[in-house]
Amino acid sequence: MIRRHSRSAIFMHWSNAVCWLFLLFSGFALLDNPSMQPISQGWADFWNGLIGGPYRLLNAHVIVGGVWVMLYTVYLLFRFKGEALPFLKEISDLHPASDMTWCVRKGLRLTIGEKAMRRMGMETELPAQSFYNAGQKLAAIAAVASSAGLAVTGILMVHAAGDAGTESLLQWCILIHFLCAGLMAIVLPIHIYMAALAPGEGPALRSMFTGFVPRAFARMHNPLWYKKLGLGEKE
Ligand code: HEM
Repeated sequence: MIRRHSRSAIFMHWSNAVCWLFLLFSGFALLDNPSMQPISQGWADFWNGLIGGPYRLLNAHVIVGGVWVMLYTVYLLFRFKGEALPFLKEISDLHPASDMTWCVRKGLRLTIGEKAMRRMGMETELPAQSFYNAGQKLAAIAAVASSAGLAVTGILMVHAAGDAGTESLLQWCILIHFLCAGLMAIVLPIHIYMAALAPGEGPALRSMFTGFVPRAFARMHNPLWYKKLGLGEKE
């Protein structure tokens, strides 16, 4: 077995996931214009009933958002150099041609299947990937960018709400907050399916609990990372 995720990264991933899912669903329920409801007015009514009205729902949203920001602040203070920086380097190591090829072929393999691709004369082999595959890198970039957008605009909204002369700032914050949440509402179901539920991803899902992946899985899914670890030469 090979270590893939540290204990602190696993803790951050799951506490982040719980906070995110609560914030996303409660955030959508907070939209008071029914025509902007991405799920349904029934969804907003359900949350308002569950938490005890829109005022308490907003309070719960702000409290969970505050806990999420504090967790990340502490994590970044202690693990910036050792974990956050290598993570940022890894996800920004983009190779446009090969990443695009990976996304298109992976998408086709999961939808029409390899047999149909071969019948259409298409190549099915995926370009070799490093620690993260192209899809994970794009999803992680979206998560980091929207997290920053949500945290900054969320903090500004809490502090500027009710102050005279801040109406235009608040309007901008609401728009950016909504766009970041909207982007992640599209990216997250894809991330959850691709990282945890897609065929063959069982070892990746288990690694988000145990921290380890089998060698054979890493060699097949992340051959460039496997090589970087110097494991390929030992075989
Ligand atoms: C029930 C919800 C979720 C499930 C089942 C899930 C599953 C996973 C799994 C299995 C991995 C490991 C992939 C690998 O090792 O190759 C992963 C990584 C990751 N996930 Fe999630 N995830 C969920 C929610 C979220 C949310 C809400 C976010 C962010 C908004 C997120 C962001 C990430 C990021 C940035 C990574 C890479 C981080 C790392 O490797 O340390 N995930 N996820």
